[in-house]
Amino acid sequence: MKTIVSPSLLSANFIDLKSDVEMINKSDADWLHMDVMDGVFVPNISFGFPVLEAVSKACNKPLDVHLMIVNPERYIEQTAKCGAEYMTIHYEACTHLHRAIQQIHAAGMKAGVSLNPSTPVWVLEDVIKDLDLVLLMSVNPGFGGQKFIENTIDKVARLRELIQRTGSHALIEVDGGVQGETAPRLVEAGVDALVSGSYVFKSRDPIATIHSLKELKKI
Ligand code: DX5
Ligand code: ZN
Repeated sequence: MKTIVSPSLLSANFIDLKSDVEMINKSDADWLHMDVMDGVFVPNISFGFPVLEAVSKACNKPLDVHLMIVNPERYIEQTAKCGAEYMTIHYEACTHLHRAIQQIHAAGMKAGVSLNPSTPVWVLEDVIKDLDLVLLMSVNPGFGGQKFIENTIDKVARLRELIQRTGSHALIEVDGGVQGETAPRLVEAGVDALVSGSYVFKSRDPIATIHSLKELKKI
């Protein structure tokens, strides 16, 4: 199976988002990853719903929305209205995770949960069967262009074991420091979907870079 590629808009050119969205439309990207930050859960603020809404109108790929905000359950309806296919919230930012997952599904979206680098995968044991996606952060969330945390490779194997043992259909996605050297190792470790920001958008030929990630195959 070919790898799912989800370029992260955080590294796009914000003065000319239209060109970057058109590039995504033309490329082999499967999804478009969009990072919403609140300056509370993470020490940074990115963009919010007006940007999501505008991009969703111009983008013909499913939106993979990653909310790095506290109490994300407050924004389920708004995320759905922007046409998101996947809504991913952080385990560390949501007290009633089970309820939030049900509400995301009821709003017509696929539900993802993200784990910070310090959060072990076993905390998902009792919700994993309800999830469509688990997003492992391979950097501390908040910024693009950071160094990949090596422990993620073993964490992918632990998550794969949990998914298989419970019969969950959740996809494994990894976000942070995904580039030419780390991507093949992640795919070999069992990752289904790669998020990549600076490696794609800062490259000389983003379409070719997306294609090279897309060509990585699971054995
Ligand atoms: C970071 C964001 C990422 C970010 C990844 O908190 O969640 O999606 O854009 O950027 P790179 O690929 O440059 O590490
Ligand atoms: Zn992200």
